[in-house]
Amino acid sequence: MFYSEDVLAEVRMGNDIVDVIGEYVKLKKSGANYFGLCPFHNEKTPSFSVSPEKQIYRCFGCGAGGNVFRFIEQKENLTFPETVEYLAKRINYTLPENNSKADAYRREIKQQLWDIHKSAARFYYECLNADMGAEARAYLDKRGVQPNIRKKFGLGYSPDSWQSLNEHLLNEGFEQDMILKSGLVNGSNSGRYYDKFRNRLMFPIIDVYGHIIGFGGRQLRDNKEEAKYLNSPDTEIFNKSFNPYNLNYAKLSNKREFILVEGYMDVISLYQAGFKNAVAALGTAFNQNHASVLHRYTQNIIVLFDSDSAGENAALRALPVLREEGIAARVLQVRDAKDPDEYIKSYGAEAFAKLLQTAVNSTMFRIEHEKKKYSLDNIDDKIALTNDIVAILAETENPLELDLYIRDVSKQIGVSPEAILSEVNRIQGYKKQMPSGSGNGLGKSVKNVQVDNALEDAKSGVISIVAYDKNLFESVERIFDKKEFLDELYIKLYSVIEKLHEQNIPAQAADIVTCLNGETSELQSRAASILMAQLSYDSDEERRRALSDDLKVIKLNYIDKMMDEAENDEEVQRLLQQKKNVENIIKSL
Ligand code: UTP
Ligand code: MN
Repeated sequence: MFYSEDVLAEVRMGNDIVDVIGEYVKLKKSGANYFGLCPFHNEKTPSFSVSPEKQIYRCFGCGAGGNVFRFIEQKENLTFPETVEYLAKRINYTLPENNSKADAYRREIKQQLWDIHKSAARFYYECLNADMGAEARAYLDKRGVQPNIRKKFGLGYSPDSWQSLNEHLLNEGFEQDMILKSGLVNGSNSGRYYDKFRNRLMFPIIDVYGHIIGFGGRQLRDNKEEAKYLNSPDTEIFNKSFNPYNLNYAKLSNKREFILVEGYMDVISLYQAGFKNAVAALGTAFNQNHASVLHRYTQNIIVLFDSDSAGENAALRALPVLREEGIAARVLQVRDAKDPDEYIKSYGAEAFAKLLQTAVNSTMFRIEHEKKKYSLDNIDDKIALTNDIVAILAETENPLELDLYIRDVSKQIGVSPEAILSEVNRIQGYKKQMPSGSGNGLGKSVKNVQVDNALEDAKSGVISIVAYDKNLFESVERIFDKKEFLDELYIKLYSVIEKLHEQNIPAQAADIVTCLNGETSELQSRAASILMAQLSYDSDEERRRALSDDLKVIKLNYIDKMMDEAENDEEVQRLLQQKKNVENIIKSL
């Protein structure tokens, strides 16, 4: 432990939990406690409560809870000692000297690296405003970055020379090996040192505490031989994945929703236009670490990427990451301009605000994306598309939300809502059975969905096997009567399959649906969704076993239904006998 218990107690008692949390969450008193919207998960009705008496908080929604230290630790992403320092500072409490040597040493290194970056940023800033910065200034003029914004973001210029930063830093009194540690200067085999960034427009990267921890540098003229942007390497103070660009300002924007964009210039243009809540993942794909850092400050993100297909794909890749983190995402792809930066330049802030309003939720965005891959005028494409869409919908756990999506999708692709729902439920039921941790992290969200669809599964299982296998179909014929389905749809489907096999026509999904021509469109689309769900089996043996299991479920259900309706004892006895016999009958398959 770094601090003694009485020190900790004093710091804790000096920081009333209601005051501290009140700085982050709007709290309302009700009875003995205060309530508000939980800052650790996404919610619309308050389940987060703070007890002034017990000096603890607890969220009934996500289970977060603890004392004031825990709150700050989580909310500001600090280590425990850092949290203590943070809260001590808040009440002007002087902590006793920390005596851990290793810790002091690490802190000293960090401090020096921060100082080096600060000094470098100042140097680049001065270069930008000196004679040698003329081209860089002209470039910023061309891109419409106003002087106050240049200052706000600390933009600079790295001179077109090999050593000027290194010399500057040495002159400032920094040690050469510390300068190398900063990543701003590299050493060569010949023992020479050279600046990493040369003749580039410089963008300081600032962490949430205001330290400059790295830089991005852009070419002034497009030269395909070198990278358009260079970024600082990861160092002891900089990790690309944990430091989204502009989080320092976005965090102060007090916006409920952040905007995730691709590049430095997007962030800056948006800021200049009054949208201070944009952040960007720099020089690396948006990943789980970015998401978890952002989650400390927001529950909602608009993913706004470039208008090209690379942008669309980047957006699609960011969605599961946000979803896994529990951040609600909306998506927007820039239209009529290359990226958000150009959009604002061409159409202005007001148009951009309107554009933001058209962001669609991530599920609808993904469905739109799927739709582009298929045409809607042939049945195979329609089936494939429905398949893809159903897989996306099956990730939605909230039944109300699901209902709304299904209505919408049903209208768009002309498949009945019932068919879509039954297929979604089937997949959710299937996923539920998978061990958690397998697949793509969706298990978590479907576990709440309670659907009893064993019977439905059995019926569609039988159909999807016998439709495509004449031998098995003939075996089934001997022990099964289609009326046992007790469901008009399956009886009809089975009849069609019977007819096709009789004529020796290999059954194809689309053909079977065609045979249902004349039936209601609802029945047809339910049929399509059943036929689509062709499971794959490892072996014929396995398929036969699945078929037996399915038939057993259907037969037992049929007998149970008959028993419910049985008029006399004799009949009940007969059915009971049948029930006992099911096992044997199935074995003869
Ligand atoms: P873009 O090429 O879309 O950047 O790359 P941009 O901001 O639109 O560039 P300009 O200045 O307007 O032409 C998006 C982001 O990807 C990273 C940078 O963070 C950039 O802002 N990037 C891009 C690199 O790290 N290296 C590269 O070579 C290119
Ligand atoms: Mn761009």
